[in-house]
Amino acid sequence: MLTLEEVFPPYALRIACGPVELRVLRDDDLPELVEVVRGGIQAPGLPMPFLSAWHEAPFAPGEPDGFPSTSLAWWWTQRATIAPHEWRLALVVRRDGQVVGMQDLHAVGFPLTRTVLTGSWLGRAHHGLGTGTLMRRLVVGFAFDELDAGRCESGYVVGNAASAAVSRKVGYVEDGRRRIVQHTRDGDVGVEEQRVSVTPETFRRPETEVRTEGAAVLRRFLGVERPGDG
Ligand SMILES: CC(C)(COP(=O)(O)OP(=O)(O)OC[C@H]1O[C@@H](n2cnc3c(N)ncnc32)[C@H](O)[C@@H]1OP(=O)(O)O)[C@@H](O)C(=O)NCCC(=O)NCCS
Repeated sequence: MLTLEEVFPPYALRIACGPVELRVLRDDDLPELVEVVRGGIQAPGLPMPFLSAWHEAPFAPGEPDGFPSTSLAWWWTQRATIAPHEWRLALVVRRDGQVVGMQDLHAVGFPLTRTVLTGSWLGRAHHGLGTGTLMRRLVVGFAFDELDAGRCESGYVVGNAASAAVSRKVGYVEDGRRRIVQHTRDGDVGVEEQRVSVTPETFRRPETEVRTEGAAVLRRFLGVERPGDG
């Protein structure tokens, strides 16, 4: 019988460096992940970071219209978006084995665009330890070194100093601003988003060794295999 990783190759992916490890979200991770969200995400004094305030939905396990039910569809949609023309990798971030947040990758038309979009968050209790910088360096390095990407893009609401600092430390450069709509608990608001992008030329790599498993089977699954991938 096939293993789960052979049935669904993204599960074979593991990116690790120092105390931090990234793996594709599995259902078994959900209880720990939900507790992290419940502890809060947004840093005091910084703007709401997301397009939608999913993390502020009332905590009501088992209810259809509260958290976590309101977020399950999104997490499972990410897992179901895994064709070469559009894919998402929702990576659970663990530090010293404990779930601390998520690092998402998204690409449209990747075999031709070689461009990846990223988004990330950490539970508030886990901010300020360098994890946010390291996890972004890990996925950007993975995109460049293992998927042969040429560019990674991201964006943050103007005023999100933590995200701006992470982008700067990873080597992103500013790429213009645009106006976006945020769905907050108090209704829709228009805010300025700073777009940023990084290429291999400006990328600042992790300072310690990165261990990656499962890249070749994932490349094949995403239609970007290399000659030696088998
Ligand atoms: C953005 C985020 C992932 C950063 O993670 P982190 O582990 O706290 O970041 P690091 O510890 O790697 O710190 C990176 C830099 O951010 C700075 N920083 C962290 N929190 C900050 C804050 N609240 N205000 C200002 N700067 C901050 C740090 O000082 C550091 O810069 P320095 O080395 O020049 O001092 C985290 O703050 C978070 O999850 N925020 C809420 C969600 C979010 O904003 N996501 C990104 C946009 S989608």
